[in-house]
Amino acid sequence: MFAEPRKITTNQVAPHEDLLSVVQKYKKSDNLKPIAQHTKAAFDQTIDWLADWQGEVILDACCGVGESTLHLASMHADKRIIGIDKSALRLNKNQHYEKGFVDSSSNTQNNHLILQADLEDFWRLLADYLPQAKWNVVSQYLLYPNPYPKKSQLQKRWHASASFKSMISCGKKWEVRSNWRLYLEEFQLALQAYNIQSDIHEITTSPITPFERKYLGGGQKCWQLVTR
Ligand SMILES: C[S@@+](CC[C@H](N)C(=O)[O-])C[C@H]1O[C@@H](n2cnc3c(N)ncnc32)[C@H](O)[C@@H]1O
Repeated sequence: MFAEPRKITTNQVAPHEDLLSVVQKYKKSDNLKPIAQHTKAAFDQTIDWLADWQGEVILDACCGVGESTLHLASMHADKRIIGIDKSALRLNKNQHYEKGFVDSSSNTQNNHLILQADLEDFWRLLADYLPQAKWNVVSQYLLYPNPYPKKSQLQKRWHASASFKSMISCGKKWEVRSNWRLYLEEFQLALQAYNIQSDIHEITTSPITPFERKYLGGGQKCWQLVTR
């Protein structure tokens, strides 16, 4: 028997009252934190991998085991897909998923790269590099980010963090999924502070990540935010 997936427990009933002031604060400031060496190395590996690529790139942020990266790779054979997660433990399970995909799908090969890196730094490096890139980031996926549902954890959520400005500099097309609708409502408000509009829908399609499978399988609703 499988354990029921944990439901979101939160002391917030509406978007955080400090959300917009926090988003504006980070929009006006530069993040000067030093870049970790291991993420710089992973970023250099990405640039080498893209080499002379002149087409479209999709970023799968917080990809976990990389199942969604493989899914995106099979859907977009004409694009390059980069999956990034900071957890070696999760990424190490990728081979298992990769094998399943290789067996069941014909066209995921060679168009994706899965890397261990801290996205806080990776997004800053990417934002600085993009003006000279021959390729173009056409969309970014952020599927089931850690929700940090306590009110006091607001600034741990991506949209209320110092990273949001560089995340947006890397591309304005987003798909974000969560089993906590309020997370997406806040993300939507944060995007509006950058003049980006989006819609939120319930997910009714088959799961594309382990977390999505766990939530949907446990009877929870999952939601997706998609920019217009
Ligand atoms: C709840 S899991 C979701 C994983 C996957 N997207 C899924 O749906 O199965 C959130 C993931 O975000 C990753 N993560 C959190 N903060 C990160 C950061 N700063 N840089 C890279 N990955 C991060 C974690 O390691 C974890 O794998």
